[in-house]
Amino acid sequence: MTQTTILSQRSSKPFLWIVGIIIAVFALLQLVRFVVPEFQPDNPPVTQQVVWNSPEAEQLWEQACADCHSNETIYPWYSYVAPFGWLVAHDVHEGRDALNVSTDRRIEWDEMVEMIEEGEMPLPVYLPLHPEANLTATQQETLMAGIRATFR
Ligand code: HEC
Repeated sequence: MTQTTILSQRSSKPFLWIVGIIIAVFALLQLVRFVVPEFQPDNPPVTQQVVWNSPEAEQLWEQACADCHSNETIYPWYSYVAPFGWLVAHDVHEGRDALNVSTDRRIEWDEMVEMIEEGEMPLPVYLPLHPEANLTATQQETLMAGIRATFR
């Protein structure tokens, strides 16, 4: 055995340690959501069922808004992988705090329309992974008309 191979065998040990520690930390992070409710991808009970004026509006609502403003969130697989999943759960909880059609008795329909009109909602961070939520002008019109007819 030459001097160089002995050296490279020795120096691979700290490298393995580092990889091991990274894997262990990553595994531990996966447990956090079980103890921190804020990071839990959850769906509390639906206590109010919305009856939409049209199936088209309901479909668009589900496409663009329901994941963050109802208790019928569809969580993609990466919602269960920390730390990315923490961001997903955090946005969903914050969105529900502002507006939740599954529980809120009074829905601020005019604010919903305004958010769509001004292009503030859906939250931009949502769009790269949910291109179907990027509504066309026609789809926005249908959704806004549906919101008016359903919640006013
Ligand atoms: C990725 C999550 C997400 C999506 C999708 C989403 N929202 Fe929101 N929404 C939030 C969050 C977070 C807040 C609270 C913080 C803020 O106002 O930015 C919020 C706030 C709101 C508010 C309250 C604003 C206020 O000032 O009180 C309205 C109304 C609203 N959203 C409507 C919508 C509508 C309509 C859609 C679909 C076109 C939609 N949102 C899609 C996350 C989302």
